[in-house]
Amino acid sequence: MKTTISVLKADIGSIGGHIKPSQELLAEVRNSVAANAKGLLIDYYISFTGDDIAILCTHTRGVNDEKIHKLAWDAFRAGTTVAKKAGLYGAGQDLLKDAFSGNVRGLGPAVAEMEIEERENEPFLFFAADKTDPGAYNLPFYLAFADPMYCSGLILSPKMSQGFKFRIIDVSYTEKNKIIELVAPEEIYDIAALLRDTEKYVIESIYSRSTGNQCAALSTQRLHNIAGKYTGKDDPVALVRVQGEFPATGEVLAPFNIGHYVAGFMRGSHIGPLMPCKLQTTISYFDGPPVVTGAAFSIKEGKLSEPADVFDHPYWEAIRMQVAHKASEIRRQGFCGPSMLPFSELEYGGVVEKLKELDKKFKFSD
Ligand code: 13P
Ligand code: 13P
Ligand code: MG
Ligand code: MG
Repeated sequence: MKTTISVLKADIGSIGGHIKPSQELLAEVRNSVAANAKGLLIDYYISFTGDDIAILCTHTRGVNDEKIHKLAWDAFRAGTTVAKKAGLYGAGQDLLKDAFSGNVRGLGPAVAEMEIEERENEPFLFFAADKTDPGAYNLPFYLAFADPMYCSGLILSPKMSQGFKFRIIDVSYTEKNKIIELVAPEEIYDIAALLRDTEKYVIESIYSRSTGNQCAALSTQRLHNIAGKYTGKDDPVALVRVQGEFPATGEVLAPFNIGHYVAGFMRGSHIGPLMPCKLQTTISYFDGPPVVTGAAFSIKEGKLSEPADVFDHPYWEAIRMQVAHKASEIRRQGFCGPSMLPFSELEYGGVVEKLKELDKKFKFSD
């Protein structure tokens, strides 16, 4: 049986700044999905990470399905009405267009979807990150799928020894999808050369080379490329199938212990370490630090198990302490040098205008 797993995510308003959605807002999204699920969805799970609400759902309609996307769009619209009424901050922030046009891609919400042939048992992970962008997954997924220092299965499992194929998208090119396919291990230097530039090149999906099956799908939307101006960070979601021909759950989680530096943090304009957090984590210090949450599921004929919170474990408490330390360290240097994003990525028009004005005041001298 073919099952589609879709996750659609949007920031449609939050309490007290960019912190978390209200219970009322979550309830409205849940009610809207429940009211329209009949005949469309097999199952669904509504959650939040920071100020973003994600609708994870299963169905048999394939990826990019108009009815599934409309169901999510309608839920986000209904939520926006509630958010506006309650005076939540950034109500409807990620809904960049007024009208639905067949597909939420390009309208603001982030989407990651996979159509799969369910295995006898089908475990997968759902990641959601806030205060960062899709390039945040470049390093952990490269390490989990291409580096035996993190993924022991590349050495130990015959099913994985052929490696994985990466589809990498150039998100700076907005007219069409501009994608390259590269395989690990033969082309890991090329993969690394692209993935080092997290603002331009982003992993779109990953496939097993031994079976050809897809194992990862990521949201690659860049809001500022869609809107032409800053409208909030892109806050990416990802789906990853695990075990068997794919890395084990713990191998996919392993690289998240780096707390690597990503783009995002305050005003989408800084660099901060990605902190692996428990489900339903809110946002705090300096509108961050950037967070990632992970929910593990099993599915059977599209029916979802309850979620298992993959970062809710004493091990990750210790990691969070280290990452908090990294966050404080980089913040100690304020606006200076690498603690802020490069000019091309600064999300606020203000500083760009200011520099233009100041440039006029420069004088030449010998
Ligand atoms: P969000 O994209 O999560 O709304 O964050 C916006 C921001 O600029 C926080 O400082
Ligand atoms: P305001 O300038 O409206 O406070 O918005 C800032 C913002 O949302 C960045 O976090
Ligand atoms: Mg927000
Ligand atoms: Mg957000």
